[in-house]
Amino acid sequence: MKITVIGAGNVGATAAQMLANKELANDIVLLDINEGVAKGKALDMYETMPILGSDSRIHGTSDYADTAGSSIVIITAGLARKPGMTRDDLLVKNNEIVSTCAKQAFEVSPNAYFIVVSNPLDVMTYVTLKVTGLPRERVLGQAGVLDTARYRAFISMETGVSMRDIQCQLLGGHGDTMVPLPRFTSVGGIPVTDFIGAERLNEIVERAKGGGGEIVKLLQTGSAYYAPGTAAVEMAEAIIKDQKRILPCTVMLEGEYGHNDVCVGVPIVIGKNGMERLVELNLTSDEKALFDESANHVKGTIQEALELFKK
Ligand code: 2OP
Repeated sequence: MKITVIGAGNVGATAAQMLANKELANDIVLLDINEGVAKGKALDMYETMPILGSDSRIHGTSDYADTAGSSIVIITAGLARKPGMTRDDLLVKNNEIVSTCAKQAFEVSPNAYFIVVSNPLDVMTYVTLKVTGLPRERVLGQAGVLDTARYRAFISMETGVSMRDIQCQLLGGHGDTMVPLPRFTSVGGIPVTDFIGAERLNEIVERAKGGGGEIVKLLQTGSAYYAPGTAAVEMAEAIIKDQKRILPCTVMLEGEYGHNDVCVGVPIVIGKNGMERLVELNLTSDEKALFDESANHVKGTIQEALELFKK
């Protein structure tokens, strides 16, 4: 098992370290255009393996030839938000970076599953899909696992119940229009509304929606990385171990939820074939309206990305 992580910034490094901690691959490649950073971080991580008791080998490179034959490619390359920016503000630069990375990685690993983490996430997933020409089952965007992790953490904090017992679903784009779903949120299988009143729950939903921005504001110099990197690894683990998890992931819609030609977050069953099933929830009209708003917002940004390719 060989996994490549593209981008040796904070998200990529967190993902690589987590993959190695969990010994999910015996060969982990950390690639960055800055070869010294890739090699330095990879060596530093490799030197933690005796302490962690893991036999994963990690090496850093700037050469795509070293990534050849990867089973999974995780794309984290690109700029991160700074205070005052939206994820969409990263479009022009990250469109160029992600399309180049995806193309080069695909050339040497045509059978890989791609997990996209770079922002604006839904659009970068779309770009990766188009550039590689892979079927939609193989190109998955990481956003919902992160966004639900934030939502679950806040519900655990509020209820004092174990993180493990908070289950939920979330739909839509990875941005201000994301749609956490209280109706599909449970604490140990019990509806969350039995624990938290409507007004307070709404505040928690809003905090989850702004969860990335909350970290950007605190850090001042960049955006979150522990949770985003770990979330990508949860998706990789589900593929590697054929877990058939139901996780919210960003995938191409082909008519589901009434939308076409847009990558957006929905629950999927994820296993050794990547997306093995797309789960269509029976939404109320209010939930559907929020989902439509989010999907339409993403479609607008996809149009902007397509215009960039024409230039
Ligand atoms: C976040 O939500 C970086 O978009 C990522 O923190």
